Amino acid sequence: MGKIIAIDRDGIAHELQGQHGLNLMEILRDAGLAVEAICGGQCICSTCHVYIDPEWADGLPPRGDAEQVLVEDSGHYQANSRLSCQLEYNDEMDGLRLVLAPEY
Ligand code: FES
Repeated sequence: MGKIIAIDRDGIAHELQGQHGLNLMEILRDAGLAVEAICGGQCICSTCHVYIDPEWADGLPPRGDAEQVLVEDSGHYQANSRLSCQLEYNDEMDGLRLVLAPEY
């Protein structure tokens, strides 16, 4: 197991339990954070957009083509933008910090 730290849109930090077999969107959503995820993780909506702490961003798998297009078109793109549904939790993410992007 492990934990991730998620900062919500009010700036409040939440310590969440990492869970194998779930992606970060599912962990955020299951914890009750305001992640709409209206496509259910199929990489077609971008309502699971987060900003990964720069310390962690480089160690993650790169964005896929569809993810890249969606975050760039989101209106809130940053260099550390990711779609949380495209990142499956693993032990190497223990301690990862992220911030929820503004609503789409
Ligand atoms: S939930 Fe729709 S793109 Fe992630």
